[in-house]
Parts: sequence; structure tokens; C-alpha cells
Amino acid sequence: MKQVDLLYTGKAKSVYRTDDPEVYIMKFRDDITAFDGEKKDTLGGKGRYNTEVSSFFFRYLEDHGIRTHYLASVEPAVIAVRSLTMIPLEVIVRNVAAGSIVRRYPFREGEPLDPPVIIIDYKSDAHHDPMLNDDLIYALGLATPEELDQIKATALAINELLSEYLDLRGITLVDFKIEFGRYEGEIVVGDEISMDSMRLWDKETGTSLDKDVYRFGKGDVMETYAAVAKRILSPPWGEPA
Ligand code: TYD
Repeated sequence: MKQVDLLYTGKAKSVYRTDDPEVYIMKFRDDITAFDGEKKDTLGGKGRYNTEVSSFFFRYLEDHGIRTHYLASVEPAVIAVRSLTMIPLEVIVRNVAAGSIVRRYPFREGEPLDPPVIIIDYKSDAHHDPMLNDDLIYALGLATPEELDQIKATALAINELLSEYLDLRGITLVDFKIEFGRYEGEIVVGDEISMDSMRLWDKETGTSLDKDVYRFGKGDVMETYAAVAKRILSPPWGEPA
């Protein structure tokens, strides 16, 4: 399999076609951005940590019956993925109020959300990613009712799996964002599951272990990413390696 041409470049990843139409190459760059691209930096090693965590979670989800685009590791910050047709939705699941939901609605930061709240944004830079509802999703032709039901059910199933896994490692999954694509008529998880796309709090101290460290200058971003990647990829506390 050979990398051919650049298909798409986003804020932190680039996707390339290969000589196999079923396979794309995804590169996790060291770029980091926040606030709709207003804050930007390049942090050496970031791509590698996000690749390790994303790849691990994709394999973990596959082991639990959830289809993802992950195929194989290629290099430390490069993976091979299935060539999905992406659906331009940002599907966010929230277990605890933080970030935009606190700014926009009368929730207190840290307030548990039980049952979890799903928010779906339209992935469109030109429109600044507005929040959608089911009717808008159908009217815009973004997904059918059957697909949307499956997207929501899968997002909640992923939330259960990730929450439980992280909880055993002393981490609260506050919220996360996932994206889906279509492959041979099926809905498949694409994009990434990393410290850029999840909000993670240390269960004991409440410390941020994710991109909020960068957004709000809460500490050394790369030290945090390295430590949380290690924590996610290690056996739960107390268990021998
Ligand atoms: P949210 O609180 O809506 O946005 P912000 O953190 O910018 O105030 O984010 C909820 C979660 O989803 C958070 O873990 C970050 C993630 N997310 C993305 O990865 N990309 C996005 O475009 C958005 C809106 C959220």
C-alpha cells in the first residue's frame, strides 16, 4: 500500500489517499488549535500521543463490537484507516457539565448529567459549527432517522465503554466528541478519540488531563498528554503490569 495524494487537511490531522481505494493514511500532526482556530501552536510529540490513545481506543471499541475505521499502525503518528465517507456531524456526549454547555445554559461546571446529554453540531467552518436538532439533520439531508438512531445509540455505547475503562484508571470522562462515516452501507466510527477530543478529569484532584490544559494555559500540555497516554495504556491502578 502506497501513499498517493493529500485528500484533506484539518487543524491537527491530514488524510491521504493510497493506491488501495479502500484505505486512507491518517497523519496526526503536532499542531494544536483552540477557540475556532484563534489559538494555534505546534507541540512536538503531540501527534504521537494522540495516535497511541486513538489507536488503542479504536481497537478497544472493535473488541467490544463497535465498528471503527482503524486498520493498522504505520508509524508512531500515522495509521491506516478504512476510507469512510464522513458524515459532517460532531457528536458530543456529556457526563458532567463543562465547556460550552456551561457557557450557554444554566449548568454549574462539574454538575453530573445523568442520563448523559448528547449534543450534535454541524461540522462546517463556514457556519461556525452550529448545534443541530433531529429535524435540521433530516432537512439538511445529513442522516436518515435510522442512521441518526444508530449514531446516538453507538455514541452512548462508546460512552459506557470509555467511561468504565477510564474510571478504572482514576479518570472521569467528562465529555467527548466523535465523528461517524459510512462504509458499505454501515455507520462506522471515524476521526480520532484522543486528548484533543475528550475532556478528562483526574477523579481525585479534578485536574484537567486534556486539551483544556492548552485552551486555558493550565500547565505543561505535553507533560499532561504524555502522562495521560501512559495512564490510559497501562493496566488499572493496583494491578500488576
Ligand atoms: P465543548 O464544551 O462543546 O467545546 P469547548 O471545549 O470548545 O468549549 O466540547 C465538548 C467536548 O467535545 C470536548 O471534550 C471537546 C470536544 N470537541 C471537539 O473535539 N471538537 C469540537 O469541534 C467540539 C465542538 C468539541
